[in-house]
Amino acid sequence: MKNTVLTLQKQKEEKQKITMLTCYDYSMAKLMEGTGINMILVGDSLGQTVLGYEDTLSVTMEDMIHHTAAVSRGTKDIFVLGDMPFMSYQTSVYDAVVNAGRLMKEGRANGVKLEGGKVVCPQIKAIVEAGIPVCAHIGLTPQAVNALGGFKVSGRSQEAAQQLIEDAKAVQEAGAFMVVLECVPADLATYVSEMLHIPTIGIGAGAGCDGQVLVYQDMLGMFSDFVPKFVKRFASVGEIMQEAFKNYVKEVQEQTFPAEEHTYKISQDVIEKLY
Ligand code: KIV
Repeated sequence: MKNTVLTLQKQKEEKQKITMLTCYDYSMAKLMEGTGINMILVGDSLGQTVLGYEDTLSVTMEDMIHHTAAVSRGTKDIFVLGDMPFMSYQTSVYDAVVNAGRLMKEGRANGVKLEGGKVVCPQIKAIVEAGIPVCAHIGLTPQAVNALGGFKVSGRSQEAAQQLIEDAKAVQEAGAFMVVLECVPADLATYVSEMLHIPTIGIGAGAGCDGQVLVYQDMLGMFSDFVPKFVKRFASVGEIMQEAFKNYVKEVQEQTFPAEEHTYKISQDVIEKLY
């Protein structure tokens, strides 16, 4: 059954946790389909994990559309959320609607995600009014890394906790169907999750959220440039891949690959006439 804004909302109401992973390409999306994953986030984290930037700031709309479209082609029932990159919505409400529309039209996303609380509510409201589901993202917002002074836990002081609560209420009021809470103390994230009627998705925000998201390369052990405290490694796929690469090199060098079964045949008559 296709995951939709309605089924995801029902999961919150029935206290059934929502599962989300990032994904950036067709073959990985196909591997996720049918595993019980409810949502894929084509995150701007692709700036680091796929494109090798040190943060997400250089990611463009073209990058996001390219990867969102690839993921959409590999999914059937999973809800695909396209991330709005830095400066694709902060500049104006008009830009926000146009760029959200491009992620839906060209990327074939089922909804979009953008970072920020109260300050981006006019954008959320306008995108929702255009018929596009919006997931908000509060707490640590990586696109604001320079303003925040680094990747830090958010909402620890009384004032910061109050600010997070107000942002959560504001994005719900503006029409967001879901909100990501990133790097928020667990008890505060639980409080926010119980307060809101829309689902919360946590990343570094504890078990009290309505669902969880992880970057797939982190949970598969495929990316080691920076591993945050909240990441659990569910498999060591990176090691398995490196082992396979080494075996490939060895077999090519030893000339045991390609073997007979990997080889196309031709009549010897044809070959003889070449000499
Ligand atoms: O871009 C991303 O992958 C994200 C998640 C970390 C929530 O925004």
